[in-house]
Amino acid sequence: MSHTRKRIGILTSGGDCPGLNAVIRGAYKSAHKLGYDVIGFLRGYEGLIDPVSYITLTNRNTSGILSQGGTILGSTNKGRFVTRTGVDDRQELDPELIAAVKVTIQQLGICGLVCIGGDGSLSIAQQFHENGIPVVGVPKTIDNDLSATAYTFGFDSAVACATDALDRLHTTAAAHDRVMVLEVMGRHAGWIALHSGIAGGGDVILIPEIEWSYENVCRAILEREARGKKFTLVVVAEGAPLPSGDCVTQERRAESRQVRLGGVGNVVAAEIQSRLARETRCVVLGHLQRGGTPTTFDRVLATQFGAHAVGLIHHGGFGRMVCSAPPRIESVPIIDAVSRLRVVDPHCTDVQAARALGISFGDDPSVGSPFVCEQRESAESPAELATVGG
Ligand code: F6P
Repeated sequence: MSHTRKRIGILTSGGDCPGLNAVIRGAYKSAHKLGYDVIGFLRGYEGLIDPVSYITLTNRNTSGILSQGGTILGSTNKGRFVTRTGVDDRQELDPELIAAVKVTIQQLGICGLVCIGGDGSLSIAQQFHENGIPVVGVPKTIDNDLSATAYTFGFDSAVACATDALDRLHTTAAAHDRVMVLEVMGRHAGWIALHSGIAGGGDVILIPEIEWSYENVCRAILEREARGKKFTLVVVAEGAPLPSGDCVTQERRAESRQVRLGGVGNVVAAEIQSRLARETRCVVLGHLQRGGTPTTFDRVLATQFGAHAVGLIHHGGFGRMVCSAPPRIESVPIIDAVSRLRVVDPHCTDVQAARALGISFGDDPSVGSPFVCEQRESAESPAELATVGG
């Protein structure tokens, strides 16, 4: 098959999140301007091999998708491509799969493949790169747990959803003098719980990165009551281990080494109710956090990621992943992003600010780090000032 124009491939892999379509549109539009045709593989990496399935992206099928959740290309976190590249956790792809992908790339005349995914999906892209397949990565996940990027797209939308849920729970909790527990996603990182807890006025935030106890959670509730607040909002990350050290899980996925987290909210709510004899209810927000329209922030980030990914291909930056390094979009080797998770630093300024407001993390408040406010003399240089917002 011969092509007059160069051709780029794009795929969306792993769990979906708001902003995938914005990346697809951003990549398509910028590629088109540079003279590339773009095809989109269907159902993630699965579309690359038997049966090879893809659509040609056009003005028509990418029009109006900027604000749409999901992905017009479909996605999966199951199937034949399951791997990890973590330092102690590497799982090699079957060489026959890689050989079959190479045949597809060659036969379709693809000069660069944009892989949009989280750590698992980008681990696959890394192995493609090591085997000579021309890939670039785009970091996607509501969990915001990828190293080497300040933000992944989808995170802001998930936090907005969880914050909206807290706003709603606030009024009903106050009306009934109840304790409301909201369980949010995020796997083994507490970013969604931390940010939504701050934005939604949570009183207790339980995250995987900070050990907590029921005694301290109950103390926080009783102290609120002593101040006249008869209701409490508790935000718990699905991956926050119980005081016993165990995570609450649903099932082990047959096709993957990842466990399915979920259920900690109900366990925490039941324990609070039994210890304090206060009416306690739990809401598990689940996939609502992954659906729907992306926020403005995610649309801008995803659009930039799409355009920069094409720029990487255009300039031969294979094996690299676009990343957010505010106020700039840059790129790093994919391996830097997937070799370890980016979790919440228990001493980060977000946690410090929350503690300063009296938000409890279920730990002993006296062990929290002191509130330090960095005082810079001035911006580093006029150049730095000039780039802010630029
Ligand atoms: O990684 C994104 C995520 O939504 C996690 O927060 C969550 O634990 C997981 O995916 C859920 O996966 P599934 O859609 O397969 O249930």
